[in-house]
Amino acid sequence: MSHPSLAGLRLGINIDHVATVRQARGTAYPDPVEAGLLAASAGADSLTIHLREDRRHIQDHDVTRLLARSPVPVNLEMAVTDEMVDIACRVRPRFVCLVPEKREEVTTEGGLDVAAHQDAVAAACLTLRAAGIVTALFIDADPAQLAACLAVGVPHIEIHTGRYADTEGDDRHAELVRIRDFAREAAAAGLEVHAGHGLHLHNVGAIARIPEVVELNIGHSIVARSMFVGLPMAIAEMRRAMNEARFAQASPVA
Ligand code: PXP
Repeated sequence: MSHPSLAGLRLGINIDHVATVRQARGTAYPDPVEAGLLAASAGADSLTIHLREDRRHIQDHDVTRLLARSPVPVNLEMAVTDEMVDIACRVRPRFVCLVPEKREEVTTEGGLDVAAHQDAVAAACLTLRAAGIVTALFIDADPAQLAACLAVGVPHIEIHTGRYADTEGDDRHAELVRIRDFAREAAAAGLEVHAGHGLHLHNVGAIARIPEVVELNIGHSIVARSMFVGLPMAIAEMRRAMNEARFAQASPVA
């Protein structure tokens, strides 16, 4: 069954952690490509995979197999390195999202510092665009990063929601306000705005309610939940939480 997006909010599913389970034992299963196909049939608007430099979860053959078989667009997350840009230009996903990467981190810890590495990011984006790939930059909700993204000339940004997800109380509220204002500014400047990282059923609503955000990319919580209810149900639950929040926004009392 497919779950149509409501009010333009798309759901991209990150399937890296299916590969994490596989790599833990060096087996051929569970196959992230099979998970991706299941996610697509359960209504994912796109599939995200992060080919990390250390290949800790997704492997090169996963990228080529997913691209050969996915019925929905594939978004390749990658670091700004010559190796990754070469791979992307060879396999040509529909989308690339450039992210920072540190070998010692457990997961992506923050946005890409586009302002500090503007020339390298601009060069990578130019090469990717020449290969017909639509590129997003994963950034913190920081005006200096927005200015750098506009200078680089990318069409899409993804706002890092990790800090929002990791904080509570007043700190979380302040981060939410920051993200909301930033999304408005970025959209007004002509960028398509996505968001992701650390989102789960109980914190997705406030982000889904931001009208300028048109895509959420969610992985860990959905793959974790799928262990108990299966991937189609985990996706349906997330879609419902997103849509309920989006719908509440249209209500006069919200
Ligand atoms: N977006 C980006 C750019 C990411 O790096 C990640 C994590 O790989 C996600 C979204 C998804 O984050 P999570 O797995 O916490 O849902």
